[in-house]
Amino acid sequence: MRQPVVWITVLIVVGLMVILTMGVLRMPKAALKTFPADNGSNFIDVSNYPSEMQERYKLFARKCSRCHTLARPVNSVFLGEAWRKYVYKMMKKPGAGLTPKVADEIIEFLIYDSQARKKGNNQ
Ligand code: HEC
Repeated sequence: MRQPVVWITVLIVVGLMVILTMGVLRMPKAALKTFPADNGSNFIDVSNYPSEMQERYKLFARKCSRCHTLARPVNSVFLGEAWRKYVYKMMKKPGAGLTPKVADEIIEFLIYDSQARKKGNNQ
């Protein structure tokens, strides 16, 4: 008579284990490692930027925080054209969800921002 209860319990436990395992496997690798930049500020004050740059900032904030903190690119040491090379590198990572068109818009923002913040090395 207690048999169905046992089976249902086993099914629930196995189901939960499968869901948990899939969650861990799908977690991007970058999330497992931390960089010093991850502990810095995780936003850029774009209130003085031109409106099209503010739009690109939103794109950047959404796309570049999928695998790691947004703080990582915000506090990184790349300037100007070096961003282009780096964003293309990110685009090639599996599951990046970045098309060349989107990447180019983000690069324009990052280059503008690296000049606008004028802090020498963005830190
Ligand atoms: C598919 C996952 C993924 C996405 C999306 C992604 N990154 Fe990364 N990022 C990584 C990984 C993994 C690392 C760790 C270093 C490596 O493996 O190259 C990293 C590291 C970085 C670093 C640190 C480099 C350093 O040495 O200081 C910066 C900066 C960076 N990413 C910027 C970006 C930007 C900008 C975007 C959005 C265009 C982006 N990332 C989107 C996976 C991703």
